[in-house]
Amino acid sequence: MMKTLSKTLALSVLVSCAQASFAHAQTTVIQAGALIDVENGTVLKNRYIIIQDGKIVAVGSKADMEAFDKTGDVEYIDLSNMTVLPGLSDSHVHLTADAHAHGYKRLRISTPRSAINGVANARKTLMAGFTTVRNLGAAGFTDIDLMNAIDEGVIPGPRIIPAGHSIGITGGHCDSNLLPYEDHEKAGGVADGPWGVRAKVRENVKYGAKVIKFCGTGGVLSKGTKIGAQQFSYEEMKALVDEAHLLGLKVAVHAHGEDGIDTAIRAGVDSVEHASLISDAGIKAAKKNGTYLSMDIYVSDYILSEGEAAGVLEESLAKERIVGKRQRERFQVAVNAGIKLAFGTDSGVYPQGDNGKQFAYMVKWGMTPMQAIQAATIGNADLFGIKSEIGSIRVGKSADIIAVDGDPIKDIRELEDVDFVMKSGVVYKTDN
Ligand code: ARG
Repeated sequence: MMKTLSKTLALSVLVSCAQASFAHAQTTVIQAGALIDVENGTVLKNRYIIIQDGKIVAVGSKADMEAFDKTGDVEYIDLSNMTVLPGLSDSHVHLTADAHAHGYKRLRISTPRSAINGVANARKTLMAGFTTVRNLGAAGFTDIDLMNAIDEGVIPGPRIIPAGHSIGITGGHCDSNLLPYEDHEKAGGVADGPWGVRAKVRENVKYGAKVIKFCGTGGVLSKGTKIGAQQFSYEEMKALVDEAHLLGLKVAVHAHGEDGIDTAIRAGVDSVEHASLISDAGIKAAKKNGTYLSMDIYVSDYILSEGEAAGVLEESLAKERIVGKRQRERFQVAVNAGIKLAFGTDSGVYPQGDNGKQFAYMVKWGMTPMQAIQAATIGNADLFGIKSEIGSIRVGKSADIIAVDGDPIKDIRELEDVDFVMKSGVVYKTDN
């Protein structure tokens, strides 16, 4: 609960057309009781943040702010009893997925319906404090329409970096393997061979993808795939990564088994999603290449407790029983090795809006609360290649700012219940 937020729309009604044409038409001042400086790993007391045109234009003490020229309307937001931090980000979500429809239940969901789910889930995700997400795979490019609708102000939601179709081998984790041959269902991102995968990358870019996702091993939730088995040869992975990088996009690989992970790192991927069974050699290679690991160490608990009712296949539950525990152990090894770790949760497998639940797992398995917060802010911003735009509360960056009424450095679970959300200078959530 936030008790102290008061909004005072103050000052001049005299904003003339001439004045309005200056950049300073609207100024927002946030008074922060505590401010988490994720770049330096410190907490600052009594800070003021000034926002204009959706961007942070000043951060400092009260005295600094008094000197600041605040022409035009001034909105004052009192977060003096709260901890303020940059908007969170999640490097692995599926906004258009329904966590209650797995396995054969998913076959009943049309592409238009998944887009509608996306509208509801985008809102839930934003309200949970996640102002930026990478959507790693959606049927029918629904994530791209979702991104456009949000950017155009039609619906509320986080900034989306969409992957469009996840690229995968015939019959692999990114294909659709539930129906018999005569019904020949094939996922939109299926491609085989180096030129086949290059063409798929190009197709994704044509329809608006901003990141490329491919499946480099089998998965938990797909029928008939082995988590340990590599999917795509080195040649295919290399061609895919080269093509994406040529076009200026980062590449995220879904990979659980060690061979797929090693090969994908060698092929130059930017992040390994899941990384559940990563070997010591894989950890070394990731460290050497600066590859991020995006390990979704919360979702196992949802799959094992709610999965069966949601339609998760028995064979998938059996795989999860092996993968979930091992992944947490490997996460701890990766933390101790000083690997770059992203904050990625695979939301959509579990209900969107619960993304913040993963923080407590990351702390339980070896991170400090500050490290977990850094992963979800400045770390992800670096992985996404937009560190100059988001990831910290710094002059020149987008005003993506959240607040909680407790101290997440003492109790990381505060981030499961975010009280204040601002994205690009617009307030989406306050408690009064
Ligand atoms: N989408 C992933 C897959 O099907 C989910 C894996 C979840 N399990 C885990 N322990 N992270 O493979």
